[in-house]
Amino acid sequence: MSFVQRREKLLASLSRPLVLFSGGAISRNYPANTYPFRADSNFLYFFERPEPGSAALFDPADQTVTLFLPERTMGDALWHGEVASFEAVKLRSGVQRVLAVEQLETHLQAIAKGRQLDAVAVADFKATQRARHVTGQDLQFDDPTKVSRGEVLDAIAALRLKKGPEELAEMRKTAVVTHEAHVAAMKASKPGVKEELLAGLVEGAFARSGCVQAYGTILSVRGEVLHNHHHGNTLAAGDIVLLDAGAEGEAGYCSDVTRCWPVGGAFSPEGRDLYELVLKSEVHAIAQVKPGVRYRDLHLSACRVLAQGLVELGLLTGAADSLVEAGAHALFFPHGLGHQIGLDVHDLEAFGDRIHYPGRQRSPQFGLGYLRMDLDLAEGMVFSIEPGLYFVPAILRNPEFRSKFKGQVNFDKAEQYLAMNGGRGFGGIRIEDDVVCMASGSEVLTASIPKARVEIEALAGQG
Ligand code: GLY
Ligand code: MN
Ligand code: MN
Repeated sequence: MSFVQRREKLLASLSRPLVLFSGGAISRNYPANTYPFRADSNFLYFFERPEPGSAALFDPADQTVTLFLPERTMGDALWHGEVASFEAVKLRSGVQRVLAVEQLETHLQAIAKGRQLDAVAVADFKATQRARHVTGQDLQFDDPTKVSRGEVLDAIAALRLKKGPEELAEMRKTAVVTHEAHVAAMKASKPGVKEELLAGLVEGAFARSGCVQAYGTILSVRGEVLHNHHHGNTLAAGDIVLLDAGAEGEAGYCSDVTRCWPVGGAFSPEGRDLYELVLKSEVHAIAQVKPGVRYRDLHLSACRVLAQGLVELGLLTGAADSLVEAGAHALFFPHGLGHQIGLDVHDLEAFGDRIHYPGRQRSPQFGLGYLRMDLDLAEGMVFSIEPGLYFVPAILRNPEFRSKFKGQVNFDKAEQYLAMNGGRGFGGIRIEDDVVCMASGSEVLTASIPKARVEIEALAGQG
């Protein structure tokens, strides 16, 4: 779909005028020192190359879109470079009008003529304040029940959840760049190398291809810390590096990939068994992807594979089905199987469970409660499949769990894993790919990134 077609589709499903905000540059300390601008994902979905500080009015009464852009000043031309005139943007983008955002409120009064307006909260607090002001609604970006009126969230999600060919093409491009980044880090993983050198290789690979990180690079031999952004360790033989990193391209689409490998090129016997088990559950879940499958069932199916393997390794005791029902496996696999991916690495997560658990409730159980979506899969959805196994002291030594799972978890055996690597612990293993639900099965966008154990072992430290 072209940007014009996307806007027409949105207009057709709105009952009230809607104002979207791109957001502006966000300061990292003093006002003029800002992070690189990244437009809100909804704005990116409806407009090519959005400008910071812009807004757009979608008016269903006459099916028009008005774009509000910052006035072109000499000062901006001096510091930031010249940009296209309002007229040129109007022609290029196909909107019906382009007006000055400085007069947004005045223009809205004239165009929307006293009608109740809707808006969508964005990460830029100042833009959200403006959205509150023009709508009179209590909008908040970090409260999914206050991001916008439900009807607006539903209308946008109906478009963004199913990716078209042009969106998949963007994600295939970021998958190629993500591949380069992961392989560069694998090859450099020799004992004595610092994690920060690997992180530099990853982020350098993104930058060399005109991409940025879609999220903070997770790279650590302490992979049991799920979102570990610290890169201060020095690699030692026996360690497993966990890298969770994905590139974001110019259009805003991203990849989200995790690979793990042994420093120096050979897993320990324990590492090999757990790696093969995580891979088996990942491949098993991917093989079941097709339209109509409930994502929660995929999660539980992957959990049963992990539970059965943990029984065989002596870490759990019992039947896989009942272990998963009780949540015993979650002491080693505490997070959900995955999430939607697109313009946001957790696509549309800001819209909350209204979109990701439609008509369903999140489980209160430890582990299952972290499952980020419970949707029935449909053609065009792109999501991650990312099982893992972790040895987290805070979980495995939790007194409540120790008593609740006494007969099901072999805590003495778990202690042996917590004591490995000179007391640093086993760490964690996760394998993550980005999967498209197709009419007859799936396409794994990130399939070329090595994950077979022998392939990983052959690459690790061979740079
Ligand atoms: N990269 C964060 C995640 O996998 O969800
Ligand atoms: Mn993910
Ligand atoms: Mn990830």
